Amino acid sequence: MKLLSVAGVRWLVVFGNLTETIIMDIIGMYPTFYVPYIGTAWVMGIIGVIHVLASHTSVGAAFLFAFLETKAYRDNQPQLLDFIKRYGVFLLVFSYIIGSITGPGIWYAITVTSPRGVSGLIHNFVWVWAAEWVYFTVEVIGAYALVYLIGKIDAKSHLKLTWSFALASWSTMLIIVGILSFMMWPGNESWYQTGSTNDAFYNLNFFAHLGVRTGSMFVMAAVVGLMVAAGVQDKELKKEVVRLITPIGLGGGVFATAMFFYYLQTVPSNARIMLKYHLLPQYAAGMIAVAVGSAAYLIFAWFKPQAVKTWIAVPAFLVIALIGVWPEERMRESMRKPYVAGQYIYGNQVIARDVPGKGITGEVDRIAEKGYLKLHPFIPERLRTITAENKLEVGAVLTKIACANCHALEPGAPLRSLPDKFFHSTDKQMIAAFLAGPLKQGSVPFMPRIDLPEDEIDAIASYIANINETAGQPAGRSKVSSNDQPSVRSN
Ligand code: HEC
Repeated sequence: MKLLSVAGVRWLVVFGNLTETIIMDIIGMYPTFYVPYIGTAWVMGIIGVIHVLASHTSVGAAFLFAFLETKAYRDNQPQLLDFIKRYGVFLLVFSYIIGSITGPGIWYAITVTSPRGVSGLIHNFVWVWAAEWVYFTVEVIGAYALVYLIGKIDAKSHLKLTWSFALASWSTMLIIVGILSFMMWPGNESWYQTGSTNDAFYNLNFFAHLGVRTGSMFVMAAVVGLMVAAGVQDKELKKEVVRLITPIGLGGGVFATAMFFYYLQTVPSNARIMLKYHLLPQYAAGMIAVAVGSAAYLIFAWFKPQAVKTWIAVPAFLVIALIGVWPEERMRESMRKPYVAGQYIYGNQVIARDVPGKGITGEVDRIAEKGYLKLHPFIPERLRTITAENKLEVGAVLTKIACANCHALEPGAPLRSLPDKFFHSTDKQMIAAFLAGPLKQGSVPFMPRIDLPEDEIDAIASYIANINETAGQPAGRSKVSSNDQPSVRSN
């Protein structure tokens, strides 16, 4: 029996040795999933933004309910419960359904986008995630119980239920923030040595990040609350509710802004470079506009509660939600570059450095020495050796493996189009020089060190040059060198 109880483990060990002797050098990479134009990064981004909207609104609303109900109970104002019920049903229909679809959607998306990133997170946080699911279950049951038990159980028990719901909701946020902020970086060396979950979870930017989300959840909840309030017929109730929730939204906004500046102090140097040169020039104006616009809207609603009509409240919500949340999420994702998690897994799935605490070793040097064609398990056999015939095809595969997590391959595509980044150049030597220079040395702060053997660089450069040569030409010419053909470019 003793043997049986350890059989699984022994089998694994034997299997590990076997595979090692048969395919000695293969590294644990997965197939690359490529979505043209927007890349998997934007697929994840779009699902993520919808999820953030739904989840932050419901966590913020949970606290609004708790405040309103405490007031209803203390000041004997049972009409406030009518609003809570109305808002609660709205949440169940929108936030909970959308949130529960997009939550698993994120899992599907990240698993194909970044299998090793997910694996890294699971190996650090499996029990933390388990705890999150417990809180989430409490949250969902709490949301239903809260809405359907209004007026059916005594007020004091209901109030306790509402506060438990609020705390469980916020706990799910707290836990996810610990995981998300580890994705940025642990912030110090200790986790790499210990591999401990605590060192990963309470990372340098955890509190700042939690503060930003906690503040902004009140803004979301107030803005969505105004949509719900717009439908309230009772004028007195509408006024009262609007005047209660708008200051909470404003306070949340001020707090989130302050925490955002604190957050910027807690991010690594690669993130600062990315912010300064790429992100702030692109997004700062929009973010300031949304912050000012949201504040103005909430203040306007406070002064003119009866003017909050559906046709104002719904577009206001959409503008604040989309223009406010998209840049925030996109910035956080971009700032992390070149890493996808913990500053040890690059965005293109390669392990960037040793992590003794987890028994993980870096792969960049091995790839430099042997090349992807030998080490990557999912290269078709016929492409493992480069020939004159398959060079472009090998180049395409290698470019997808090495670059396409962060760069779209189509000219003009919105996700950092690779042809655009090379200025549509058809000069293979120039492209190869970039790969053999800055990329090989790892001197671009927001890109991984991608150090490849010469023949692989040549294949990638040939492929990228070929995209640029054939751009604008009719389909079917992609493998024909433009030197042999008359130019058919339309412009
Ligand atoms: C982990 C993500 C990531 C990977 C993988 C990656 N890059 Fe980049 N690359 C970036 C980021 C981020 C930028 C900054 C530009 C931006 O955000 O618009 C960038 C910029 C560039 C630029 C413009 C240079 C500059 O200084 O702005 C070139 C050229 C480029 N990448 C080529 C490549 C090639 C070729 C590969 C694959 C061999 C590759 N990149 C792989 C993230 C990546």
